[in-house]
Amino acid sequence: MIYFNNAATTWPKPEVVYETVDKCFRGMESPMRSASESSLHDDVMTKSRDAMASFFGIEAPKQLVLTPGCTYALNLAILGIDWRQDDVILMSGLEHHAVSRPVRKVATEHGVRFEVAPYTPEQPIDLDFVERTLKRGRVRLVACTMASNVSGDTLPVADVIKIAQRYEVYTLIDCAQSAGVLDVNVAKLGADMVAFAGHKGLYGPPGIGGLYVAPGVDLRTLAEGGTGGDSGTHPLAHKLPNSYEVGTHNLPAIAGLAAGIKWVEGIGIENIRKHERSLVKKFIDGVSEIPGVTVYGSKDVEKRAGAVSITMDGISPKALARWLSTEHQVTTRAGFHCAPLAHETIGTCPGEGTTRFGFGFFNTLDEVCLVVDHLVHAPRTVSV
Ligand SMILES: Cc1ncc(COP(=O)(O)O)c(C=O)c1O
Repeated sequence: MIYFNNAATTWPKPEVVYETVDKCFRGMESPMRSASESSLHDDVMTKSRDAMASFFGIEAPKQLVLTPGCTYALNLAILGIDWRQDDVILMSGLEHHAVSRPVRKVATEHGVRFEVAPYTPEQPIDLDFVERTLKRGRVRLVACTMASNVSGDTLPVADVIKIAQRYEVYTLIDCAQSAGVLDVNVAKLGADMVAFAGHKGLYGPPGIGGLYVAPGVDLRTLAEGGTGGDSGTHPLAHKLPNSYEVGTHNLPAIAGLAAGIKWVEGIGIENIRKHERSLVKKFIDGVSEIPGVTVYGSKDVEKRAGAVSITMDGISPKALARWLSTEHQVTTRAGFHCAPLAHETIGTCPGEGTTRFGFGFFNTLDEVCLVVDHLVHAPRTVSV
């Protein structure tokens, strides 16, 4: 079996992640959130949060809210702002539903408008458009993914943030596809909010992620409940990170994510990046030789992360993925990848989307060569 669906979730995970989750789950004498009831809880929470904060260059770990994934983190960031009628949100054309759906929700519920920045593979977010839109005023938030889960393009988020800072506009960066693959350093980036997923390039379990919230950014809570600390009062205190982490923590996932991050640090982001770049290059070079294949996104592998989307004349994206799976035990993902906006942007929606190949650290160049060879022989309804 060849697993090329790492853009959805990385698999397998490093052994140390499986072991850590198992050990933590079995050792949880009490999942409760108070030092007197469970010292393991506080130990895991503090050490894990510290490890994550250090990885992302976050000076004060309490600015990091642990969430049940990147989707929740992005929702917290977008729905948590005190929106006013006629505010404007600017986003890239490559955003995932986890950004575009909450943006549409605040547009419907609060009379907020949103604008989508133009895209070309050479300039995946039009920086002049960003500047012009911000200059007009009313923009409160710029949301931009650092790497697309559809086209694989990486976006110049540092430039976007610099422009936004001149106009004192909130910035939100979606690092679901970039954390663990590119350098994501909150202190260097200077973004107001940075969201990440635990189960992709950080090789952690599913259902865990986080949101960095810069000092001074005041978000509404999305859920009310117990924090373990202020049990005697009725209203929820307004404090980072506890007030945003109500309910019983997913301790095994949190410990597993911290183990994944330590594993990534041990290999080194630059080594992971180098390996994935070589896989992406080999794949793009190989499929570009096949007649009737279109590769989306930048031609420059330096400007790409680990996902590559293709379409092939004479076979639909879903039929190609199905054929690869049933005939060759190759796992990919076809369709719209929860990002119809990105597919509209690259020109595959309306349509049937793409077949996406998501490469990860455990893939090899031999696997890539084998799959390119399979693709040469894919069954087509037209001769090419
Ligand atoms: C770009 C992007 N943003 C957000 C998400 C949502 O992440 P999670 O699965 O952690 O909710 C994904 C997951 O596919 C993604 O690719």
